[in-house]
Amino acid sequence: MSKHGGASFTIAAMNTSIASSLPANARPRIAVLATGGTIAGSAADAANTAGYQAGVVGVDQLLAAVPSLSAVAQIHAEQVASIDSKDMSLALWTTLAQRVNALLSTDEIDGVVITHGTDTLEETAYLLHLTVKSTKPVVLTAAMRPATALSADGPLNLLNAVTVAASGAAHGQGVLVAFNNRIHSARDVVKTSTFAVDAFQSPEVGALGWVQDGRAEFQRSVGRPHTVATEFVIGAKWPGVEIVASYAGASRVVVHALVAAGVRGIVVAGTGNGSIHASIQQALADAASQGVAVVRSSRVGSGHVMRNGAAPDDALGFVSANALNPYKARVLLMLALAAGGAGPVVLQKAFDTY
Ligand code: SIN
Repeated sequence: MSKHGGASFTIAAMNTSIASSLPANARPRIAVLATGGTIAGSAADAANTAGYQAGVVGVDQLLAAVPSLSAVAQIHAEQVASIDSKDMSLALWTTLAQRVNALLSTDEIDGVVITHGTDTLEETAYLLHLTVKSTKPVVLTAAMRPATALSADGPLNLLNAVTVAASGAAHGQGVLVAFNNRIHSARDVVKTSTFAVDAFQSPEVGALGWVQDGRAEFQRSVGRPHTVATEFVIGAKWPGVEIVASYAGASRVVVHALVAAGVRGIVVAGTGNGSIHASIQQALADAASQGVAVVRSSRVGSGHVMRNGAAPDDALGFVSANALNPYKARVLLMLALAAGGAGPVVLQKAFDTY
């Protein structure tokens, strides 16, 4: 199996059918797209949950570890990539989103499950939330323990993700993350632990619902527009957008280097309510006056950034990220710029909408 990353990778497609005693037409047809991650990780020792190689177990083995999947759905499986998700690339994002859209546009597939590494899962999920053009369910899942571990969490997470994708209640909810028995919206979910099995939370708003023992239940619905209700499409050239952090003793060197490199946008991982060290705030204001989109987010991990609160956005030409963390704010800014959005007023509307 080859590693995928950067601009060049190949897609090794593989079809896996799981036999079932139920009539085929009684079970939803779910495509499982594997991309790698710890869920496909392998360690030399079953007690090892930190030192292992991610993305080496194939989708056929992931499915074979969960025989009861056949009672839930007819599975069509594809190995889209085999990466550690820290190496997720814009090119692979394009390929993945295009594949999801192609599968969901046919009458043959009722929903998609994507197995992914936990490290950039929230970014991929939000990207798909904004660019999938279907109301059919798309559910990402992952694992904190490699497939070889004692008490590996991947098999149950995979079964639960397929259960969610196969459930009628998931239609129209946008892209979802099924992890550790909870169902999260792609917009809200973030990874909050480096090691715990309960590694994903939706700060402030909480999970959408839960999945357990073959049953998925939604306790609330997604409020903001997504998928078919956005203007974003995948396939346009990705604009250069980078993230800059604000911290004690921060200097303007990074901002100057990014502007000199020709980036079209900078997201600031600000302190507190998106406040920015004085030494880089002026450099960012200069960048904004030259047409670089500057978005204020926060490194705090929950809450929102109030426009004109901790910095005078109107005066400096900045945009507030609302409740998006810096990594999701970068996703939205790239899509908005690729869609032709320009200027703080138009970009602020995108952040207030999505
Ligand atoms: C990865 O993100 O691919 C590795 C870490 C994980 O999946 O937990």
